[in-house]
Amino acid sequence: MKRSVVLGTGSFLPRRELTNADLERMVDTSDEWIASRTGIRTRRIAGKGEENYRLAAGAARRALEMAGLEAGEIDLIVVATMTPHMTMPSCACFVQAEIGAQRAFAYDLNAACSGYLFALDMADKYVLNKPDMNILVIGSETLSARVNWQDRNTCILFGDGAGACVLSGRDHGGGIIDSQLFTDGNLWELLYMHSPKSLNPDLVQPGDDHGYIRMTGRDVFKFAVRAMEESVTALLQRNGIATKDIGLMIPHQANIRIIHKLMERLGVPEEKVYINVNKYGNTSAASIPIALDEANRQGLIRRGDLVLFCAFGGGFTWGSMLMCW
Ligand code: COA
Repeated sequence: MKRSVVLGTGSFLPRRELTNADLERMVDTSDEWIASRTGIRTRRIAGKGEENYRLAAGAARRALEMAGLEAGEIDLIVVATMTPHMTMPSCACFVQAEIGAQRAFAYDLNAACSGYLFALDMADKYVLNKPDMNILVIGSETLSARVNWQDRNTCILFGDGAGACVLSGRDHGGGIIDSQLFTDGNLWELLYMHSPKSLNPDLVQPGDDHGYIRMTGRDVFKFAVRAMEESVTALLQRNGIATKDIGLMIPHQANIRIIHKLMERLGVPEEKVYINVNKYGNTSAASIPIALDEANRQGLIRRGDLVLFCAFGGGFTWGSMLMCW
């Protein structure tokens, strides 16, 4: 049976680094506070010529190169993002034009920080239906455009970047095994970002400002740990897989304390968890594919290894996925 297999991975980060020391000069904070509460030391911030679609295209080119495919061989481009360069056309359309993937159809998907798992899950369904499809699944964000740089509660957490993989059907025994996705729209007020201000006065939202990210950090923290733990436990159970059988866990990189709590509760040792939140902060939908590409290029995943992903984001959205490499 043909399953959805990753043929290649890629990532692309903006050049400019913003360190905790830089943030100390912008808001009332300290390297010690940020590092001990979040594990983040530095993050990348997009500059001129590094719009969301350009980061996405950079990651896509690297994934295509590893897959040994030309852009013209891609059938579908899905970009998971909540910070598209424009509301219309989608970021995916810009990527298509930028890399020259003329045969593809393309669209964006928004499930906040869980977006990459939602996009992979959807791409998997296309491949199961039509195994010869080549799909570029990209997660790309420029969150620096949407954080309030005067709000120390949020501006220290986020960064920009993109990651991608090429998915297609193969029957070599590997591929996506199973996934579970969840949302709870009732909890949206704990983590949200307004759209740009409405031009229809009747539709202006109370509190609508510049479309900044807003968050109730403590509640998000607690819910995120519990939701990911329950999702992973249920996914492993229904596939008859023990935690010790996992080759590598790639969690959404939001905060080192969330990741540590998750490892503790699931009983996954540190050497089996890929962590790069220290370098890039929370890059939302880009965090899992950037981490996957780094782990892949460092040779940390071998054919036959079980890779476990889990994510959490605004909505709330969350879920997990199991893949055999
Ligand atoms: N530097 C220094 N002090 C800060 C600060 C900063 N950057 N940000 C907040 N503080 C202060 C607060 O103002 C508060 O001060 P007060 O007690 O005088 O009011 C104090 O630190 C504690 O704030 P609190 O929000 O309770 O801290 P916390 O221990 O919960 O840590 C987070 C804050 C944001 C790091 C933590 O809640 C978190 O990681 N939440 C999850 C966020 C997340 O990952 N979101 C995305 C999910 S996809």
